[in-house]
Amino acid sequence: MQEDLDRILFDEATILRRLDELARDITAEYEGRDLTIVAILNGSLIFMADLLRRIPLPLQLDCLRVASYHGGTKTSGEVIFQQAALPDVAGRHVLILDDILDSGLTVAAIAEKLKSTGALSVKICVLLRKRKSRLRPIEADHVGFNIGDEFVVGYGLDYQERYRNLPCIGVLRKEKIVPA
Ligand code: IMP
Ligand code: MG
Repeated sequence: MQEDLDRILFDEATILRRLDELARDITAEYEGRDLTIVAILNGSLIFMADLLRRIPLPLQLDCLRVASYHGGTKTSGEVIFQQAALPDVAGRHVLILDDILDSGLTVAAIAEKLKSTGALSVKICVLLRKRKSRLRPIEADHVGFNIGDEFVVGYGLDYQERYRNLPCIGVLRKEKIVPA
């Protein structure tokens, strides 16, 4: 799989070192507050597992599955919630975890829904943030790494459901991307 990468952006050790810092910030921010983590599947799974084990707080975890990509490398512009019930976050502080902030549509739609269900606060943590203009005016409160506007895979991020289990994050070689 690694031979399909044009170049590696972050190896496993670099990612884990950054997670130590992110976890420290999040722990300090939510100490003494009722925290619910809402992780967006599938992309944030590996990030979530490594990050949460570094946060020594009595937090709760919920997962949400949404779809917006449908297999290409560009967002389809529509966010589809794939479960009937949203997590019950009334009276709780919510931190949404996602793999990457790209167009912003996914996280904006989820943040809006959770705010409307009585959460005390809703903040956003992403592992990666693409430097680009977004379709929705949304910013992340905690960011692992800023990257350029390139298609990346690994450490949970996929291209057509492949590469999620790569331990590093890298830019996929252009010839591996099937034109839409
Ligand atoms: P959005 O465009 O910010 O709504 O991002 C939607 C989803 O697209 C993200 O949660 C990722 O799963 C996926 N995505 C966006 N950019 C990339 C990328 O560079 N590689 C892999 N998946 C991506
Ligand atoms: Mg994806």
